[in-house]
Amino acid sequence: LDNGLNAKPAMGWNSWNAFGPTINEEIIKDTADRLVALGLRDAGYVYLNLDDGWSDLKRTADGRLTANKTAFPSGIPALAKYVHSKGLKFGIYADAGNMTCAGFPGSLGFEEVDAQTFADWGVDYLKYDNCYAAQQQWVVDRYTAMRDALNATGRPILYSLCNWGVAEPWLWASGVGNSWRTTEDIEPTWDNVVKLLEYNVGLSQFAGPSRGWNDLDMLFVGNSRLGEYHPFGPFYQEQRAHFALWALFKSPLFIGHDLRNLNSSFVDLLKKKEIVAMNQDELGVAGDLIWQQGTRKIFATALAGGSRGVVLWNLQTTQSQYPLSNITVFWEQIGLGGSQRATVRDVFSERDLGVFSGSFSAAVAFHDVAVLRVTPVEGPLDDSWRPWHAQPL
Ligand code: DGJ
Repeated sequence: LDNGLNAKPAMGWNSWNAFGPTINEEIIKDTADRLVALGLRDAGYVYLNLDDGWSDLKRTADGRLTANKTAFPSGIPALAKYVHSKGLKFGIYADAGNMTCAGFPGSLGFEEVDAQTFADWGVDYLKYDNCYAAQQQWVVDRYTAMRDALNATGRPILYSLCNWGVAEPWLWASGVGNSWRTTEDIEPTWDNVVKLLEYNVGLSQFAGPSRGWNDLDMLFVGNSRLGEYHPFGPFYQEQRAHFALWALFKSPLFIGHDLRNLNSSFVDLLKKKEIVAMNQDELGVAGDLIWQQGTRKIFATALAGGSRGVVLWNLQTTQSQYPLSNITVFWEQIGLGGSQRATVRDVFSERDLGVFSGSFSAAVAFHDVAVLRVTPVEGPLDDSWRPWHAQPL
């Protein structure tokens, strides 16, 4: 959507995965403080988004949405002000149907008054959900109505379509919103993370700064249910595979964990500079699957300046006696010359591994990823290659 808020995938924190509908202003204010104190704001996580559950069960006498007074005694404008005072942006949630998924008033038919309310409150981001709309009320029309209402307020509000992939949003939503959910809700299991990624294969060509972003849903980084053999198994590997691939696919990156008990190793993971830089890269090319064989997959993207971002993924289904899998990326698979010399950098450890000609192999642990930045040291620096030029099997 051409409202000036498309240049990069959005980053921030959202209340839903950690708190569901029982959210209140103390938690949001505390989260604002922690986003700053933990260095997450400065790492790029600037949107603080209130999800479903903030609203009262009824509109006011003049038809406006209003917050639940017990949970938000100071009201939303004061909360937005607090969030802004911390150098953060404030996001809110509404629904393109008669009720939100949690049963609060929906915005269908109230688009103009609700958009104006949000603008008056100082809202910077609207997540617009898709519950409780009758089948015949065409999804594109419902989401377009809110786009027009937001535009009419004159306030730049990032518009995030939460339509769960309904009606193939990658085909129409670039003119409607800044990002669109491509799937149903993420669940904190390894199988679900794998499933969401598989579902997004082939969609990279529909994303970009001039269009908007495929939204793979909020992160479950830090959640102890994500990790098959927790606590002694590949817990950390699975978490970083999840994070690195969301970043490579140029999904919006929204932390979904309670910041009061996010283990510091996951705070560090979320702050990994070069992973975040891949997500926020100026060129804005979404990553995609470029090769797979059995349980080995390679994903790649083009980065500004002729580099490639490459993720080698070991998807073995059982932890065998051979927990390492050798995976090789050939330069031809990522649009470089077959014998071109290129620096390979390990993005997690932030170390150059050397200059390689033609290919690079890594031994990747069970469910882990190797994340590489491959940069030719000699010409040509080809910025025109795209992951969809590679033909996945
Ligand atoms: C469904 C959405 O997909 C979730 O992300 C969350 O916003 C819930 N609805 C809230 O009810």
